[in-house]
Amino acid sequence: MKIGIDEMRFVTTPFYLDMVDLANARGEDPNKYLIGIGQDKQAVVPPTQDIVTLGAEAASKLPSEKLKRVRTIILATESGIDNSKASAMYVKHLLKMDDNIRVVELKEACYSATAGLQFAKGLVALEPQNYVLVIAADIARYGLRTPGEVTQGAGAVAMLVSANPHVMTIEPGAVSYSRDLMDFWRPLYATEALVDGKYSTNVYVDFFKHTYGSYIQQTGLQLDDFSALIFHLPFTKMGKKALESLLGERDDAVAQHLREQLKAEQADSRMVGNLYTGSLYLGLMSLVQHGQLQSGDRIGLFSYGSGAEGEFYTGIMQPGFAKHVEKIDEWLKQRTRVDMQKYETMFNQHLGMNDQDVSFDLQHDSSRFLLAGQRNHQRQYVDRNDDKY
Ligand code: COA
Repeated sequence: MKIGIDEMRFVTTPFYLDMVDLANARGEDPNKYLIGIGQDKQAVVPPTQDIVTLGAEAASKLPSEKLKRVRTIILATESGIDNSKASAMYVKHLLKMDDNIRVVELKEACYSATAGLQFAKGLVALEPQNYVLVIAADIARYGLRTPGEVTQGAGAVAMLVSANPHVMTIEPGAVSYSRDLMDFWRPLYATEALVDGKYSTNVYVDFFKHTYGSYIQQTGLQLDDFSALIFHLPFTKMGKKALESLLGERDDAVAQHLREQLKAEQADSRMVGNLYTGSLYLGLMSLVQHGQLQSGDRIGLFSYGSGAEGEFYTGIMQPGFAKHVEKIDEWLKQRTRVDMQKYETMFNQHLGMNDQDVSFDLQHDSSRFLLAGQRNHQRQYVDRNDDKY
């Protein structure tokens, strides 16, 4: 049975920071950020957004008749809002979905959405009439004036997994590789990640070479069997580092094509920044929109989560795939640019570890789902489309 991704939708916040503004404020050459890191813009997160609002908004754009057939929601994140209750529970409530649904949250840094897809594949194999909703939602926060600041971002990708999918089948034979390492982590008492940035980029490349190499050995496939290789993009230069570690000096037609396809993957990520769990899947959406793909093409996907875990797997694009992947370029252009002062204010308004009651001003956030504040240690969410709003 063919199983894989049937639909893809994306959301980010309504605000962005231009990386030239950030570079000027931090005393860096803008080209370090634009070329050296490979980012143009970064999503800025108002206090009225968290993984629940982002995840619900992305999933709400999926076709309603398909959402009715969802029997499991998997929310993959490393920006959890509760150490016990799954954020998927709030999403299910906001979307007014059936109560006969299994909900769960998954964690392994930026890798867990890939685990979610593989688990979903197993569930669909058991019950092919049902859909699984996999949401990758995160807010990448490194902190003001840190080296990681330029690699922040936020957003959610919502994916339906089904039998006979419309976007991409997931092929068997994925290679996973995990080792206990401290390249990036966030202790329970911290709202910003701790990171050994240079080390993490080296581990990432090592894990890519290892998983890709094992996959090639196992399957006998070669580089020209892939129409594209796409990567988890904590910043877009990272994908280039990984691809170049494979291509080296190669400059033949295959190598040139893979480099062009990587640029297509990077296009939307340059405008949004790091999504942690969702970055690889925003990359897939961007490749569909900007790359050269045809039905039947095989693509290779490298997923990486610090801590650390890597997985290389492959998918086959399905007939009419582009119609089932949201086109996002136009609405990305409609976001509001904020200056440094506004960015830092929003950054510091983050609910974080605050245990007090708080109400946020909802006027300035045009999103459908909003975090209105916190009362009695409970997050308060609203839906602008609700009659009660
Ligand atoms: N023009 C063009 N490129 C420039 C430049 C300029 N004026 N100035 C610097 N650069 C390049 C550097 O050569 C470097 O390129 P390279 O990595 O190909 O060698 C790149 O810009 C970054 O410069 P660097 O000095 O290494 O940046 P940094 O010390 O500020 O840290 C990270 C960069 C990525 C390590 C940091 O942002 C970070 O820790 N990010 C979070 C961790 C992360 O995302 N890890 C990824 C794995 S999950």
